[in-house]
Amino acid sequence: MMTDQIDTENRAIGAASPALFATLAPLGRRVSFPPDIPFQAAAARGKTYNGTIGQITDGAGSPLPLEPMAAAVAGLEPRDSDRFFLYSPVDGLPELRQRWREWQRRSVSPEAPSTLPLVTVGLTHGLSVVADLFGGVGRKLVVPAPFWGNYRQTFAVRTGAEILSAPAYLDGRYNCRVIPEALAGVAPGEPAVAIVNLPSNPGGYAVTDSERAELIAGLLEEADRRPLVVICDDAYAGLVYEPDVSVRSLFWDLSGAHEQLVPIKVDGATKELSFFGGRVGFITFPFDPESDVAQALESKVKCLTRSALGSPVAASQMIVLQALRDERIEERVEQVRRVLEKRYRTLRKALEEVAREAPELLRPLPFNAGCFALLELAESLDADAVRRHLLEDHDTGLVSIGSSHLRIAFCSVKRAALPELVQRVTRAAREMAVAAKG
Ligand SMILES: Cc1ncc(COP(=O)(O)O)c(C=O)c1O
Repeated sequence: MMTDQIDTENRAIGAASPALFATLAPLGRRVSFPPDIPFQAAAARGKTYNGTIGQITDGAGSPLPLEPMAAAVAGLEPRDSDRFFLYSPVDGLPELRQRWREWQRRSVSPEAPSTLPLVTVGLTHGLSVVADLFGGVGRKLVVPAPFWGNYRQTFAVRTGAEILSAPAYLDGRYNCRVIPEALAGVAPGEPAVAIVNLPSNPGGYAVTDSERAELIAGLLEEADRRPLVVICDDAYAGLVYEPDVSVRSLFWDLSGAHEQLVPIKVDGATKELSFFGGRVGFITFPFDPESDVAQALESKVKCLTRSALGSPVAASQMIVLQALRDERIEERVEQVRRVLEKRYRTLRKALEEVAREAPELLRPLPFNAGCFALLELAESLDADAVRRHLLEDHDTGLVSIGSSHLRIAFCSVKRAALPELVQRVTRAAREMAVAAKG
């Protein structure tokens, strides 16, 4: 029976998008949400005698919370506090999914198809589910470099995918051809997966409007050569600071743009709603929510979530839901963005001075968005050695990326402290350069 269900779902995916089916990993083809406890409990919802699910209730669907925990959520409506204490559905709380969909679709055309987002435990879990579906041994995964190191764990270490990369920056500019360049040696027809993370970590870069058009053109050209799944890691969605950079996710531009290209959106409340500890993320596919392909993909994601986590955390979903119900949510998110924009401008100015004064030591790579700035160090310097020197002698912590880059997370430094931080980095780099010569 499970095999019939799996076959039906795989056929629905193949019928809607042969490219997406061609890119499904062996694990992605095997998984399907089983008709066991959550499925049967959902079927029994509302029955007078419902003995399906193993959660402790008052016998009428409400929880029996411990007093101190009930006190912690005393401000919630009784129905919401019930949802706080009981299991979430495996795909997430329905109202949260609906409201996040509306949040994602602000300023997006009503015709653009997108599924009801599936809830994950932070973006990392969302990425690992997508890796299980479309990674697997030998699958080529393209990530512009330098990249967030955890992609390696999620895709290569866990599933055996092979990371291919090309430089995200060339001659001090974003390299819009990075994905076709990285795939140049891969045989035409072989399916591949690409990650586009804009605004980026560690780069702090989002494409300008003209670069966006070039980037899309390159992806469409690549899709002429092979089935291509493009994961839009929108962790830093909304955090843009320049007028020529749009907040719009590439997901919307790529959706329906080529029959061999399927974008998948991974996003969440972590940075977008400044809720890092909440671990609420989402996976969204570019299909109508009622379509067979949407249902088939949902079944696969639910199987992966259920097998690893049971279900996503209800308590933090409830907190995100409270935020999304707030009429002033956009204004509140904008307040946080403005704080970061001020830090961004201060850091930019300080780094422009360094670039003028000590170009032989440090070169800031272009940055215009998100939470970070990247510094490229002189060839004679080792990034991790400079990082340790900063820690030991300059009371300053930064992250080294590979052997030649240092990342400044301006999102976690007071605006007034940023010029001094930059002075310290410059001093440390100069000291290391002198020591290397001597
Ligand atoms: C680019 C990128 N993707 C995903 C994540 C993971 O987000 P989460 O903390 O929600 O798992 C991060 C976190 O730093 C990130 O920088």
